[in-house]
Amino acid sequence: MKILFATPECAPFVKTGGLGDVSGALPPVLARLGHDVRLLMPAYAGLKLSGDVLATVDVPAQAQWPAAQLLEVDAGTGVRLLLLACPALYERAGSPYVDPHGADHHDNALRFGFLSHVAARLGTARSPLPQWQADVVHANDWPLGLAPLYLAQAREEGPAGSVAASVLTIHNLLFQGLFPMESADALGVPWHWRGIDGVEFYGHLSMLKAGLQFADAITTVSPTYAREIQTREAGVGLDGMLRSRAGRLSGILNGIDTGVWNPLTDALLPHRYDARSLALKALDKSALQARCHLQPRPAAMLFAVVSRLTAQKGIDLVLEALPSIVEGGGQLAVLGQGEPELQSALVAAAARHPGAVAVHVGFDEALAHLIEAGADCFLMPSRFEPCGLNQMYSQAYGTPPLVNAVGGLADSVTDSDAASDGTGFVMRSADSAGFADALQRARAAYAETPRWRRIQAAGMARDFGWDRSAAEYVQVYRKALSSRA
Ligand code: ADP
Ligand code: GLC
Repeated sequence: MKILFATPECAPFVKTGGLGDVSGALPPVLARLGHDVRLLMPAYAGLKLSGDVLATVDVPAQAQWPAAQLLEVDAGTGVRLLLLACPALYERAGSPYVDPHGADHHDNALRFGFLSHVAARLGTARSPLPQWQADVVHANDWPLGLAPLYLAQAREEGPAGSVAASVLTIHNLLFQGLFPMESADALGVPWHWRGIDGVEFYGHLSMLKAGLQFADAITTVSPTYAREIQTREAGVGLDGMLRSRAGRLSGILNGIDTGVWNPLTDALLPHRYDARSLALKALDKSALQARCHLQPRPAAMLFAVVSRLTAQKGIDLVLEALPSIVEGGGQLAVLGQGEPELQSALVAAAARHPGAVAVHVGFDEALAHLIEAGADCFLMPSRFEPCGLNQMYSQAYGTPPLVNAVGGLADSVTDSDAASDGTGFVMRSADSAGFADALQRARAAYAETPRWRRIQAAGMARDFGWDRSAAEYVQVYRKALSSRA
């Protein structure tokens, strides 16, 4: 199958969160399964490119779209990168989505509308790549939401069978890509699709809704989240339409890139280890304590957070429990960035507890790896979590996670209670009492070293690799192809 994986970010070139990790890991596994996979993303300024540019192809200008070029790069992973080069849209300071002050790029509708347009075009007979037309266009999140719509438009214009099937993956339903309806002209959204049965969401144009409406198949990143988003509580206003498309919606748990996240081979760790050499993990703990200016106490239970600092992630629960962590003789290391109030509350807590609480504001891949290895217990009390990757990294690194029972967290962590050992600690209620209880159970287990070792070993023995999930994606692609609308 010829698969186009279209995404706004891809590790290690550009990453703001889990979508970057997924984009870096899933396509190479699909290629290993024998598929012809290309990955499309914008040629942002400052991309950390590793391969050579193999070819440059013109993307001819057309009515509302600028002329651009596709740079073909061999990333050395079996996947060819197609970088959409259009300096006026993509070469600027900031992240893929926001400027250096944290405000959305003013022309995001056009930036991602254009990316979606080119993704769709690669799935039609007018593909800019000579001799290559995708069978399946796999669009990710709201930035690619218009791709299924443009493919549906191409089917209206020509023989439907000659146009690629579309698959949309929801990595986070909260981010919907809402723009003024007036953008519909510039984006070339046909008049008959501007209403409630098309892109309209409370008077706005919703790119995510466009994708949900027109995709031949919809996936999200865990089975539990696939169920949750069909409820009013987690559906963010889209639950009704998701229920109406339930037959095309499925949940596939993300995997982890075991080439990058494996404590035995991780080049970012001072000491590499596996389940049989956990004494070396203790050395990483010392290194982490030193790096974060925490007291060098081997016996202190070291809790950690690596996260976007947003309401989604339940950071308020961590802040609330922080005094009890410190009073119990524990330590806390936090790496994250995000909402200013959460950042400053954490920084203030670190100032109140020098040597016991360390907060690093920023994005630091190397520190994220050291934290996964050096911490004892990873905290992830998210209010909702489509999948979550850090709880899986934590289990692989022998750092049992404490999680809320939602989305992918519920699907990937088994609870340890008095009766049985699991791979982590699952909150029994999504509030501060549930967090305090899980914390208490984690502390009690840590105090019993043989028991803690069993929980660590159970997590480290789990297979979180991508193979199973990649095979499920292939099935979804096949189904999308055969049920093309
Ligand atoms: P989300 O995509 O919602 O942010 P995930 O758990 O799926 O959550 O993925 C987050 C990814 O981003 C993980 O690889 C995590 O290690 C990484 N990450 C998040 N914040 C930081 C940070 N401040 N520094 C380094 N890596 C981070
Ligand atoms: C989103 C979700 C996260 C998920 C990631 C990758 O950012 O918030 O839960 O793991 O996408 O699918």
